[in-house]
Amino acid sequence: MNAADIKEKAFVEIKKIESTSQLEEARIRYLGRDGLVNQLFAEIPELPREEDRKKAGIYLNEIKLEIEEALAQRDRQLKKLSAKELEKVPFDITAPGIPMTGGLGSIHPLTQLRQFVLDTFSNLGFEEVSAPHIETDDYNFGLLNVLADHPARDLWDTLYLEDGRLLRTHTSNMQVREMKKRLSAQAGKPPIRVMTFDRCFRYENLDPQHSHTFTQFEILYVDHHVSMANLRFLSDYFLKRFFGEKTKTRFRPKYYPFVEPGVGVDALGPNGWIEIAGAGLVHPQVLRNGGIDPNQYSGLAWGFGPDRMLMAKLGIDDIRSFYEGDLRFLKQF
Ligand code: DAH
Repeated sequence: MNAADIKEKAFVEIKKIESTSQLEEARIRYLGRDGLVNQLFAEIPELPREEDRKKAGIYLNEIKLEIEEALAQRDRQLKKLSAKELEKVPFDITAPGIPMTGGLGSIHPLTQLRQFVLDTFSNLGFEEVSAPHIETDDYNFGLLNVLADHPARDLWDTLYLEDGRLLRTHTSNMQVREMKKRLSAQAGKPPIRVMTFDRCFRYENLDPQHSHTFTQFEILYVDHHVSMANLRFLSDYFLKRFFGEKTKTRFRPKYYPFVEPGVGVDALGPNGWIEIAGAGLVHPQVLRNGGIDPNQYSGLAWGFGPDRMLMAKLGIDDIRSFYEGDLRFLKQF
């Protein structure tokens, strides 16, 4: 076959091609290393005249390019055709999707509660603050009236660092810190309305009710004439929002060294009264420790354990589930 015949034959064939694999076969047959075009290239050196060898080379190169272009064009046509074919396939938009393995992530129940609680109290004018997890003995205990040999320390055993600091046992370590911070920042005087929702730690024997790591929420409110009436209102307001409008709440006298008087705050659930929070009016000595004159100001402090509260509300029976990151637990929220 001479070059013109090969070109002719290639064009006819390429037009009839119906698939990309046929396209590839044709490419190899004509343009491959041992293909028809190369066979002609191989004959060029046999031409006697220099001039003819040159012309033949140029001619064959043109043919090669033309065949390449014909292949590419057919390729484009085939792709368009197959897109059209696809459009004809009926598409059911109501068909269920393919589920992602493991499903979507979810927001941790404690984080959901955190958002709810912070929202609720920020609407009442409380500002979120934080205090260190690794704390000095003073802020965690001493300045809160829990002196070195105070028996209440037995309730709050914790882990100690070699430098004498400790893992804070409650969020109450923010109280004196916040009072002092305000004074030195010359934002100066009360009112102080702060809150924190964060981790605490204790030296505990682990069981379904006890975890060495847990969470507390705490508010501190200092101003002129803060009283037990404010404490009642806040407790009621919050517990009704959380458990529902019909929820009943009550105060019981309870001792905490940093408040006077101190109360336990209970809510009436389906299984009777459950203790939710500890609270009270800030002890005058604690106000003094924070640089605030108890003759001018009074304060209230209120704290609760979100873990316990969620356990009561959602029927969770092991506090450790909150901290283990087990997907079988987390997926339920
Ligand atoms: N810090 C206490 C605890 O961990 C809880 C508490 C009691 C917080 C009374 C308060 C309070 O703010 O007034 O058991």
